[in-house]
Amino acid sequence: MLIRKAPEIRYSEVTPKQVYLNRRRFLAGAAGLALAKGEAAGAKLENLRKSEFSTNEPMTPYKDVTTYNNFYEFGTGKADPARNATKFQTEPWQLKVEGHCNNPKTYDTDSLRRLAPLEERIYRMRCVEGWSMVIPWIGYPLAALLKQAEPTDKAKYVAFESYYESRQMPRGRYAGIDLPYREGLRLDEAMHPLTLLCFGLYGDVLPNQNGAPVRLVVPWKYGFKSIKSLVKIRLADKQPSTTWSISNPREYGFYSNVNPQVDHPRWSQASERRIGEFFKRKTLMFNGYGEHVAPLYDGLDLKKNY
Ligand code: MTE
Repeated sequence: MLIRKAPEIRYSEVTPKQVYLNRRRFLAGAAGLALAKGEAAGAKLENLRKSEFSTNEPMTPYKDVTTYNNFYEFGTGKADPARNATKFQTEPWQLKVEGHCNNPKTYDTDSLRRLAPLEERIYRMRCVEGWSMVIPWIGYPLAALLKQAEPTDKAKYVAFESYYESRQMPRGRYAGIDLPYREGLRLDEAMHPLTLLCFGLYGDVLPNQNGAPVRLVVPWKYGFKSIKSLVKIRLADKQPSTTWSISNPREYGFYSNVNPQVDHPRWSQASERRIGEFFKRKTLMFNGYGEHVAPLYDGLDLKKNY
């Protein structure tokens, strides 16, 4: 039998899916954590395609993925979203696609989910704060939705907006950032096959704290570009303003590509701590996705366009 070193063995090979799902349901129950809404009704996402874009690095345990979060609408502490988002109402839900396109349309979660085949994409995620995770997301390329909208020649950028409602998200008032949360991508970045419209993780619908019912996942950029609980996607002619660059333009740029050579003004970005590991590891250019995305930035000064 071929013996491989641990990092080359997939978690899903070691632990059959049903076993890891059951085990973490048990753990979640034992810890008194609320499970994803709808999950009790069996809202699992099935018939997932495998993806050539998946990494085979060991996955971050479900518990860390769902209890160590940034979702400022529910509080600024890492444990706050899991605690404070349990009652977040994500049904009914509407996502509006609008702006410079021939087919503007409003989707509910079901019609959105059915738009294209769902894939499991195991991505490395790198947060600007210096930690990283490996997460088995579920979704399909955002390009599938954008193609259906038929962007016109005027569309050069895509602007994204999160749900915000102060009664559901009373902690938002103390978030220290302008809400609703906004993000943006260049149209070619948004159309790139790595950019995922995401509905789930670890085989299930997204837990509220991870951005239910639908979020973005952009694995070669710092985690804050991966906007949660999306309600609006607008095809734009100009570069949209984004939450973090509004709040601190010196520290957060529009591109926010993972780049170990460009430090954050207050700390180095050269290395990262993978959640669950002790030693730091070197951060890779474009978070290791350079072979796929580097051509998007040919001729662009990545120090100026951070
Ligand atoms: N989206 C919204 N609406 N609000 C947020 O506070 N935080 C961002 C991003 N998307 C955030 C958001 C940041 S800073 C990170 S690192 C990721 O979500 C974290 O995603 P995760 O909690 O699922 O790991």
